[in-house]
Amino acid sequence: MSRPLRADIDLDALRHNYQLACELAPNSRSLAVIKADAYGHGAVACARALADLAPAFAVATIEEALALREGGITHPVVLLEGVFEASEYQLAAQHDFWCAIHSEWQLAALEAATLPGPISCWIKFDSGMHRLGFDAEQARAVKKRLVASGKAQDLHLMTHFATADSLTPDYFQHQMAAVEELAAELALPLCLANSPATLAWPQSHAAWNRPGIMLYGADPLEGANDASRRLKPVMTLSSAIIAVREIAIGEPVGYAGRFVATRPTRIGVVACGYGDGYDRHAVDGTPVLVDGQETVLAGKVSMDMLTVDITDLPEAGVGSRVVLWGEGLEVNRVAASCDTISYTLLTGILPRVPKHYHGGQAREADPMASQAVDTCA
Ligand SMILES: Cc1ncc(COP(=O)(O)O)c(C=O)c1O
Repeated sequence: MSRPLRADIDLDALRHNYQLACELAPNSRSLAVIKADAYGHGAVACARALADLAPAFAVATIEEALALREGGITHPVVLLEGVFEASEYQLAAQHDFWCAIHSEWQLAALEAATLPGPISCWIKFDSGMHRLGFDAEQARAVKKRLVASGKAQDLHLMTHFATADSLTPDYFQHQMAAVEELAAELALPLCLANSPATLAWPQSHAAWNRPGIMLYGADPLEGANDASRRLKPVMTLSSAIIAVREIAIGEPVGYAGRFVATRPTRIGVVACGYGDGYDRHAVDGTPVLVDGQETVLAGKVSMDMLTVDITDLPEAGVGSRVVLWGEGLEVNRVAASCDTISYTLLTGILPRVPKHYHGGQAREADPMASQAVDTCA
C-alpha cells in the first residue's frame, strides 16, 4: 500500500468558481490568476481546465508563463510584475505575454529594446497599496512614453487593492477614487479587482478583473457574503491513520510534549507532516476530519506525521480516512489555527504530495482561445 496522503483537485469546482467570478461581473473579462502553480493546484492542469472559459491567464514570472506554453496553453498571459530583466521582453513579444510596467527601469528597457513587434503593456498605478507602481503624475508620463516608443500596444491601467477583503470600506474607497480619477484622464481600460473585490465590490469591476484565491474555493472576505458562500473547495488534502496510541492521563504526545493527556486518550497518527506542506504552526485544537467526523490535532506537527485525538471516535482506527482540509473542512478554519491565511496553506503543498485530478472537461486551448474572450465578457 502506498502512502495515503494525497491532494484531490476538483476541476469542476475550479470551473464553477471561475464561472461565479464571471457571473458576478458580467461586464468584465476575468483573468484567471494561476501564479504560484495555480496556488498549489497545478498551473497547467488548471489552465487546461479553464481554457474554454478564461480569455487570458495571469502569473508572476516569465518562467511560469513559459511553463504554460510548454503545457500547450496559447492564451495571452499577463506577467503581473512585468519582466525581471530586459532580455525577457524578447520572450514576451514572441509568446504574447502582456507585461505590467511598474518601474522606470522596465519602461526604459522597453524603450531601448529591439523587438519583433509591440508588447501589450499594463501600467501599474500605485493607488495606495504602496508595493509596486507609479504615482498618478508618473503614470501620465509613462503612458506618453509608451505611446511614443512604438514598442507598446493595447495599453491598460491596473492597480491592486490593499483592503478589499476588509469589512471597513474606507481605504478601499480611497483607492477606488484615486484610480477612477486617473482613469478618466488617461482613458485606458482598467484592471482592478482581485478575488475579494470581485466578490464584494461591484464598483471595482472593470474591463478586466483578476480573481485568484476564489478560483480555488477559499473565501478571502473578512465576513462571508452570499457570493462567497457559493464557492466550492478545489483541493482536498487527505490521508489516513497509520497507527493508534493509547495514552494515559499526564502522558505527553510528540515533540516537546506540547500535548499532554488530561483524560485517557486515543491518539491517531496520520501520514502527513510539514515535509508535505502542512503548517507546523498548527496549534492543538486545529480541526481535522476523521471518517467524516470533526476532531482536533493533538501535539506538534512532525515532518512526516501529525497526531489527532480520536478518543471520542471509537470506530476510528488504522486506515481511517483523514481530511486535513477541503471537502467538509474549510481551509480557512485550518489557516486560522495556524495563524495564517488559506493562500499560504494551498501554495505550501510540496511536490511529494501526489495530485489526483477529477473532472474539468479539459480541452485543447488553441481553438477556443478567441471564442473564450467573449464567454466571460
Ligand atoms: C497583482 C495581483 N493581482 C491579483 C491577485 C489575485 O489576488 P487574490 O488571490 O486575492 O484574488 C494577486 C495575488 O496576490 C496579485 O498580486
